Amino acid sequence: MGKAVIIACDFSSREELFGFLDKLGEYKPFLKVGMELYYKEGPEMVRELKRRGYKIFLDLKLHDIPNTVYKAMRNLGSLGVDMTNVHASGGIKMMSEAKRGLLEGSKGEAPILIAVTQLTSTDADMLKNELLIGETLENTVRTYALNAKKAGLDGVVCSPLEAPIIKELDLVSVTPGIRLAGDSKDDQKRISTPALAKELGSTYIVVGRSITGAEDVKAAYLRCKKEFED
Ligand code: C5P
Repeated sequence: MGKAVIIACDFSSREELFGFLDKLGEYKPFLKVGMELYYKEGPEMVRELKRRGYKIFLDLKLHDIPNTVYKAMRNLGSLGVDMTNVHASGGIKMMSEAKRGLLEGSKGEAPILIAVTQLTSTDADMLKNELLIGETLENTVRTYALNAKKAGLDGVVCSPLEAPIIKELDLVSVTPGIRLAGDSKDDQKRISTPALAKELGSTYIVVGRSITGAEDVKAAYLRCKKEFED
């Protein structure tokens, strides 16, 4: 699977999104569309982006009973998205049903299916005291990643710092928490530059504000691409 920069399109409307895409000129990058934009603009916007030639990672993090996830994924597969995801905590059966739904819905090449192991908003205290899970965060991440592999998924979302473990398991890693050197960390805690993510073996980096918040978005995108993909 080829290395690529994915731009996190955390915009509140399609107008804002298309205004941003205009600034990238002739470039048609891989875009991450998340809940905020999708729940406002719906599947039609995704179809339009596909018609315009963009690759789409639809980041909706599905988590429900296997049959519901299977049927939902059949619909997402028919949208022609290139990558999507589920929560690994839904279990192996849910993940394998997600994969089956995507395969059926896409009728051709199945989109890349990624599992969320633990959200970065979950910490050791929450794991122990709210979720009543006695294992360490790291053990749950490794086991959830192995479950994703058993279910036939392609990989996981993780920090670039965890990418080497994921590579060992022969899985794809999709890594957010990326900043160009000199940029603000914002609310991210453990960050990495595109160059470091490459060195650590990330397959895809997800970059939001370092590109969307840059004065020259095209130059920032090209810098990420050069550091990570060359
Ligand atoms: O702007 P920034 O580069 O921090 O955006 C990162 C993107 O990756 C956001 O869309 C965020 O929701 C997403 N993400 C993350 N950490 C995770 C999973 C997803 O930052 N563990």
